[in-house]
Amino acid sequence: ELMGQHVQSQEKETRLANALGIQHCTIVIGNSDKDESSLIDMARASIEVLDFLLPEGQSTVAVMGGTTMLEVAEVMSQQIGLHRELLFVPARGGLGESVDIQANAIAENMARKTGGRSRALYVPEHVRMETYSLLMKEPEIKETLEILENASLVIYSIGNALEMAQRRGMDEDTLKELIDKGAVAEAFGEFVDPKGDIVYKLSRIGLQSSKLPSIPHVVAVAGGREKAKAIKAHMKTVPPHTWLVTDEAAANEILNGG
Ligand code: F6P
Repeated sequence: ELMGQHVQSQEKETRLANALGIQHCTIVIGNSDKDESSLIDMARASIEVLDFLLPEGQSTVAVMGGTTMLEVAEVMSQQIGLHRELLFVPARGGLGESVDIQANAIAENMARKTGGRSRALYVPEHVRMETYSLLMKEPEIKETLEILENASLVIYSIGNALEMAQRRGMDEDTLKELIDKGAVAEAFGEFVDPKGDIVYKLSRIGLQSSKLPSIPHVVAVAGGREKAKAIKAHMKTVPPHTWLVTDEAAANEILNGG
């Protein structure tokens, strides 16, 4: 199938990219909150973006978890692995999510689908400062973090703050803190308010969002009307070379000042 069949007008994509202050947007039709085919189209469009951005030869791809990334993994095929040696590395440890949507599982899934390789990052989510310092000295973890920081591309999704907090089993007090502080979006374990200011941070082990400016390609995949506010807020934190794959429902809401 041609990607053009699923995509909104280029004019709208440019308008959205400008509104968000990022390099490029792809908008697929529909509302992925309600419509599975729209989610699949976003996943397919993401793969087209990866295929466009990744050079031939060796590349490291840092990947996040979540249901959107799982869908991206599901629609990947050997085709993207042609003429490429891809290494998929989870950008974070567990983040307290169910195993199938953890970054480790997604990276492994992507490697299998594309004929590439993956590397695991097994670290617990909440660790005490002493444990953290020790883990950071662990050669295997240190090496994985170095590989992540030198990735060619990072692909991830953006979540609604409260939904993500609940999914990760964060306690009532923290939920209340997030509400009080006006958290609307979460990505990279960071909860941000509508201005894009970080109001709460999870797991310190993994790729830090502060490293994004030095990663050659940054690809966010998130859609659905319900995620519009989250996408808009998160985009205030990203470097200008970021690409976004989204859907009509989120795009319209953002462009109409939602
Ligand atoms: O945990 C990884 C992550 O990609 C977060 O960055 C994001 O908030 C969340 O998952 C999105 O999850 P979903 O795709 O299920 O909405």
